[in-house]
Amino acid sequence: MKDANRPRRLLLLPGDGIGPEVFRPVLEMLELIVDKKWASLEWETALIGGSATDATGVPLPKETLEKADRSDAVLLGAVGGPKYDTLAYELRPERALLGIREHLGAYANLRPARLFQELADASTLKPEVISGLDLVVVRELTGGIYFGKPRGIVVENGIRRGINTETYSEPEIERIARVAFDLARKRRKKVTSVDKANVLESSVLWREIVSRVHKEYSDVALDHMYVDNAAMQLVRNPKQFDVLVTGNIFGDILSDEAAQLTGSIGMLASASIGGKIGLYEPIHGSAPDLAGKNLANPLAMILSLALLFRYSLDREDLAKRIESAVQGVLKDGIRTPDISAYGWTKVVGTREMGEHVIQKLLAS
Ligand code: IPM
Ligand code: MG
Repeated sequence: MKDANRPRRLLLLPGDGIGPEVFRPVLEMLELIVDKKWASLEWETALIGGSATDATGVPLPKETLEKADRSDAVLLGAVGGPKYDTLAYELRPERALLGIREHLGAYANLRPARLFQELADASTLKPEVISGLDLVVVRELTGGIYFGKPRGIVVENGIRRGINTETYSEPEIERIARVAFDLARKRRKKVTSVDKANVLESSVLWREIVSRVHKEYSDVALDHMYVDNAAMQLVRNPKQFDVLVTGNIFGDILSDEAAQLTGSIGMLASASIGGKIGLYEPIHGSAPDLAGKNLANPLAMILSLALLFRYSLDREDLAKRIESAVQGVLKDGIRTPDISAYGWTKVVGTREMGEHVIQKLLAS
């Protein structure tokens, strides 16, 4: 039986590269939150990615999935690294990431790109273009070309051919469209659906189904945009967007672009929901070039914890508190190198940034 007062159980998956480093402040935050009795939480950790392969021979051990199944939410750092790039396809760390997303049925990936005003000059775009930016990419996460079949590398008449399949079914499109419209209702009530319907049949169906679902949401505005145009509009006039809904691969690409609008990919958190258990991860990767150097920006990881409180634990209050703590630190002019574009004096490392955020949280 579900007991409303039982501690919520988290599974922590630090992973590879900068993953464990950016995770450290999050762990300290969780300890603080429990100490202060702001929430009743317990957690366990498990292996994923290259570090799992090193220890167990596979990137996504069964034990990790079992632990995920008995958690209320999963928090993930990053996977991958040059050491694993030459492994067989099935053993690549990225397979673990796709595997856990699929296992959890986390089909809706929310990637909010909001500019902290303090970072307006850290972006490579002009401050007036991005000032006030607040959009969310809703990326379909368990379908499309990432999972479509047939796939593989085949040999035909002695010539090798690589194959992948972009495919979307009506129910897959319908459910992600609903996530986007529901989210837009809580925001500025505008959805832009991104596709390539001038070329791809899967996009023709996508457009048709999104338009059909829209009939149930007459209070929300909908427009459709081809993905090439969307890529351009994101740098030309990103403030026209509220909620962008799109398929797996277009969402992958556009969300990196959206991240850069906010100053750095080190700032963007994500929530993967739709299944019973939510998965939370920063959108940056394992950044092997930064790993172990105390240089990585832990804010996307910290903001992913905020999303976990918001979407899986129904603790908007704690989500806001964490986000305000991050904002407070940025107001104080504290920067990691990736967001210190214009010669900020208070450039700090991963650990120090984490400590500053914790201090703010404590004072909040
Ligand atoms: C992301 C990443 C992953 C993806 C990779 C690492 C498999 O780029 O989460 O955006 O393509 O989904
Ligand atoms: Mg990506």
